[in-house]
Amino acid sequence: MLLCIPDVLKYAELKTIRRAIGEDNFKDGKLTAGYRAKLVKNNLQLDKNAPEADEVKSIVMAGLKRNREFQDAALPRTIRPPLISRYRKGMSYGWHVDDALMTGKPKVRSDISITVFLNGPGDYEGGELIISSPFGEQEVKLPAGSAVVYPSATLHQVAPVTEGERLAAVTWARSYVRDAAQREMLADMMAVQKKMAALAPDEAETDLAFKTYSNLLRMWSE
Ligand code: NI
Repeated sequence: MLLCIPDVLKYAELKTIRRAIGEDNFKDGKLTAGYRAKLVKNNLQLDKNAPEADEVKSIVMAGLKRNREFQDAALPRTIRPPLISRYRKGMSYGWHVDDALMTGKPKVRSDISITVFLNGPGDYEGGELIISSPFGEQEVKLPAGSAVVYPSATLHQVAPVTEGERLAAVTWARSYVRDAAQREMLADMMAVQKKMAALAPDEAETDLAFKTYSNLLRMWSE
């Protein structure tokens, strides 16, 4: 499931982030890329030891943690600290799959990849996130503060930026439910139970919807 979520970050938070990240503390993105991704990765990333890095990362993390839609769809168990990436004119990130086990102690399995857009589509040309799916290639370019969430198992790329500059936070989550199809069924069932609770709060079938959601989550979570 590919999910676009609006308003993960508020306007004031985006302003704080963009003001905090200067020009000086960005490094070659290849330094954090896996063996094969290195060959196609051409961007800049905020040095994780930069003085502003902690503040910026915690704003993005807080946005994801408080977002109900993200929490329901991703069921995150662990979220990796985000990387702040910058693509200047001519930069891109060719087709790759994200590492299955992300650095950390212990390593974190990546089930879900997340991109939070830190500036708007009007700030750059190109720079679409393109995700290969069974239904063809999906192009994503969202307003500042929105996020796209998709299975880490997919091949994806960031198209070349041909004008302006693209700023984004990217991160990964290990989900309580590792299988993307199961996560989708749970998200659907969540929508069903919420609607039933609103439309038919006193019906026994509403209890069954809650029971089914709960028991599927119990069956599949790890
Ligand atoms: Ni990637």
